[in-house]
Amino acid sequence: MAPILGNLSASGLAFVYLVAGILFIQGLRDMTHPRTAPRGNRISAGGMALAVVTTVLVTDILSPIVLLAGILVGAAVGGWLAISVETTEMPQLVGLFNGFGGGASALVAGAELVDAFGTGAVQTSVTATAALAGIVGSVTFWGSAVAAGKLHGVIDDSSVRYTGEQVVKALFLAIAVLSGLYLVVRPGLFGAVPLAGWVPSYWVLVAAASVLGVLLVIPIGGADMPVVIALLNSYSGLAAATTGFALDNSVLIIAGTLVGASGLILTLIMCESMNRSLTNVFLGGVGETADDDGETPDIYEGNITTTSSEEVEMLLDVADRVVIVPGYGMAVAQAQHAVAELAELLDENDVEVEFGIHPVAGRMPGHMNALLAEADVPYEKLRDLEEINPTFSQTDVAIVIGANDVVNPSANTADSGPIAGMPVLNVGEARTVIVNKRSLSPGFSGVPNPLFAEDNTNMLFGDAKESMQELVNVYKERH
Ligand code: TAP
Repeated sequence: MAPILGNLSASGLAFVYLVAGILFIQGLRDMTHPRTAPRGNRISAGGMALAVVTTVLVTDILSPIVLLAGILVGAAVGGWLAISVETTEMPQLVGLFNGFGGGASALVAGAELVDAFGTGAVQTSVTATAALAGIVGSVTFWGSAVAAGKLHGVIDDSSVRYTGEQVVKALFLAIAVLSGLYLVVRPGLFGAVPLAGWVPSYWVLVAAASVLGVLLVIPIGGADMPVVIALLNSYSGLAAATTGFALDNSVLIIAGTLVGASGLILTLIMCESMNRSLTNVFLGGVGETADDDGETPDIYEGNITTTSSEEVEMLLDVADRVVIVPGYGMAVAQAQHAVAELAELLDENDVEVEFGIHPVAGRMPGHMNALLAEADVPYEKLRDLEEINPTFSQTDVAIVIGANDVVNPSANTADSGPIAGMPVLNVGEARTVIVNKRSLSPGFSGVPNPLFAEDNTNMLFGDAKESMQELVNVYKERH
């Protein structure tokens, strides 16, 4: 059956792709602000739908039945994942999606090679870009699978190091690159090459790059995983863009480039906020997870002061300025609505309230911003690390809700370890610090937190949602 829009002119198709590209860019622009982000998501999705539907209707790719079956299966799996996956598991889901993007690029590039060699029309532009897409796509697929496995706890998340690590990685990179060069050079040298002549070189390339993807992520542990996920996201865009060149498809080039560039910007922002260099993260294998033997560290012995909702209310009653610092525990407890209500009550009683948001608080970029936006906390009240840190010394009460690593002062002093050198929120400079969590357990990095034992810190033990609701009730009763 001929494609429905089979007679759309090349310039007509280019125009539709251009419109889709403009929609992607407008969508990204809207996503730079929490208030406009939902609209940005819809606009970008609209652009993608336009690109996909047009491509399907214009090109004779597969029979409509097979295509429809693929779309239905994909939509069902995607819908099921979106509904069933908890927000706290979002980073590993994003990691998997990156991996699927990379894997799809490597397979599509391979299919394009089969097609090109089948028709005998093999251009260097196709083999070169397919080789690049195969390498980047395979590294992305396997690297993302390992990263998602580590984040989900199915793969040990400690940093796996061994002698000669860099040499082994260089070896697999060399095999992948040489196979790619063979793929590019051989058709030019020998003219039309039988299928068996080139197929192995592409799949050798894919196999070597796959091993490389695993080897690159295995040494990275604990706290550096967010940076790796962002970097692999950028790679998945790069793989898609190079596949776009192999297919000569402009909308894939545009979409891939946007993902690659924005992923790289996010990676650099995260490296800066965690005081890591990109090379350090990807080659050095920093970020090992500290051992948590389950025992209470000595620094806590005899130095922990506990408090209650009633006592915290009394502190808030006389406070002029309060800073709330949310972390992963707020997400786990889904305490954002109770936290928002507390902030509103304080605001109504003329207390200045701001939120201190660490760039890697929670388990995904913008995690806290998204939760607080969901609870209608005004965006103007959210301050990032550089803005809020100088204000702690003029703050009466800092309330830390389910955050740990992002307020751990040992990051400022430790010479080594998972969070050494990571800029943190200096909540200890506030007159009084309230830390709400369930126990003295460490956070994601496994590093004990000396903040809990400080003289001006009071521990409000309990689930974040229950504790905040109780605090709200006590505050309401007394005002
Ligand atoms: P964490 O350091 O992971 O600490 C979270 C704390 O929340 C835990 O110590 C836990 O203590 C507490 N908690 C858990 N459930 C709770 C509940 N129901 N109620 C109250 N508290 C609860 O979190 P953070 O300070 O947000 O730091 C984030 C860490 O994750 C960083 O190390 C970062 O590198 C890493 N990471 C970040 C990302 C991104 S992109 N944001 C992605 C992956 C990893 P208890 O068990 O004692 O309650």
